[in-house]
Amino acid sequence: MTVRLWPRSLAWRTTLIVLAGLALVQVAGLTIHALDRRDLIRIAEAQEAATRVMGLYRVVVLSTPDELVARVKGLDLPPDMTAVLSDEPPGTGLARVPVEIQRILRLSMQLVPLPQQLRPRESRILWDEDAQRVVIGMRLPDGRWLSVSEHPPPARLLHEPGFFAAFLLMTVAAALLLVWAARRLTAPVRVLAAAAERLGRDVNTPPLPETGPSEVVAAATAFNTMAARIRRFVADRTFLLTAIGHDLRTPITRLKLRAEFIDDDELRTKFLADLDQLEAMVSSTLQFGKDISGTEPVAALDLPALLRTVLDEAADAAPDHASALSYEGPEHLTIHARPLAVKRAIANLVGNALAYGGAANIRLLPPAKDAKIPLARVEVADDGPGIPPEMMERVFEPFQRLETSRNRETGGTGLGLPIARNILRAHGGDVTLANRTGGGLVATAALPV
Ligand SMILES: Nc1ncnc2c1ncn2[C@@H]1O[C@H](COP(=O)(O)OP(=O)(O)OP(=O)(O)O)[C@@H](O)[C@H]1O
Ligand SMILES: [Mg+2]
Repeated sequence: MTVRLWPRSLAWRTTLIVLAGLALVQVAGLTIHALDRRDLIRIAEAQEAATRVMGLYRVVVLSTPDELVARVKGLDLPPDMTAVLSDEPPGTGLARVPVEIQRILRLSMQLVPLPQQLRPRESRILWDEDAQRVVIGMRLPDGRWLSVSEHPPPARLLHEPGFFAAFLLMTVAAALLLVWAARRLTAPVRVLAAAAERLGRDVNTPPLPETGPSEVVAAATAFNTMAARIRRFVADRTFLLTAIGHDLRTPITRLKLRAEFIDDDELRTKFLADLDQLEAMVSSTLQFGKDISGTEPVAALDLPALLRTVLDEAADAAPDHASALSYEGPEHLTIHARPLAVKRAIANLVGNALAYGGAANIRLLPPAKDAKIPLARVEVADDGPGIPPEMMERVFEPFQRLETSRNRETGGTGLGLPIARNILRAHGGDVTLANRTGGGLVATAALPV
């Protein structure tokens, strides 16, 4: 298993990037601070060393020439200091000390009060690499050299114990602030995603508020415009459909009246039967238009209860088929949908199963736990002849019927499946058909919960 270092969400990615940048800036700042501090410490140390060295020199230079050697030998020195008297200046095997440090040391040495004639006539400042000591050679008035070496204390650059605590606190505070800010800034993206999801289920979903930063307002406005166009498109289509259906009614009624004047009895009966069928198609079309206009509000409903009602009503309508109806599934499952529309869609599937398959066995499958969009599935199965595979999609087209010979017997107009599909798709679901292996058809309706 690979460890995910690069987070998926925009908020966490932003936080990570800014935090990394901040850490980089912090480290750079700390380095600058440490370097600056090192210089300060160096100056302070040089001044301290110069004072001590000049103190020694003073003791030595103020003694008489006879006592000199004994004085140097008898000096009470701290463990990291040595002092030697020699005829030659120090220098062999020693390295140079940076000029600025030499300058600081010399300056500090001059600040130590001493009469002019007693001051060192010459001085050498060198670095003993092996012993890690600074060696300062000073020429005494008699020409000999006093060489003092001493150990510089290691410069502790980040020595405050509270320093790291403060650093940590600052980083944690910055991280918290960043997480908060990033989540706040990316919230509109989540809102937009949720709105798009809602629009998929319900075109009449309320518009997004057009407030906030300019980019968010622009995105919300664009989204609302798109939603309005979709709504208008659906409304135009529905309007056209119902207008045609409505306008056909009057001529059909007129035709019916005129058909009554046909003398031939047989011809008149056929004429009237055809007109009855035409009228049924028109009223189905009007109903279709009403169903897809989606004016019914979305509500929480118990799906198993709705399925049972559909079965009960089917049993009432066809009492001899009552034993061929069954329900299998959970006792309760709440979904959010338009109750009447969903009921109509399921009733169409059950009606088909009874009319063409002589049975309607409903099975309800609750949504899978790990599903991205949780869909409840309603399976309506029968024991009929099923549908030839090449017709499986065509039966969803309006007025598409398979056996016209069964027309009279079932009285269908071929709008049941298109209506069911329209309703379910408007909810963000769908309906599909499949032949069962043991014979019969199963219609599966998927519905977001
Ligand atoms: N369960 C089924 N078994 C076999 N054929 C089916 C089944 N369901 C539908 N069909 C076929 O699909 C066609 C279209 O079905 P649809 O429900 O759209 O219209 P309809 O039942 O003919 O009329 P309506 O439902 O509008 O009264 C049906 O005419 C039928 O031939
Ligand atoms: Mg039907």
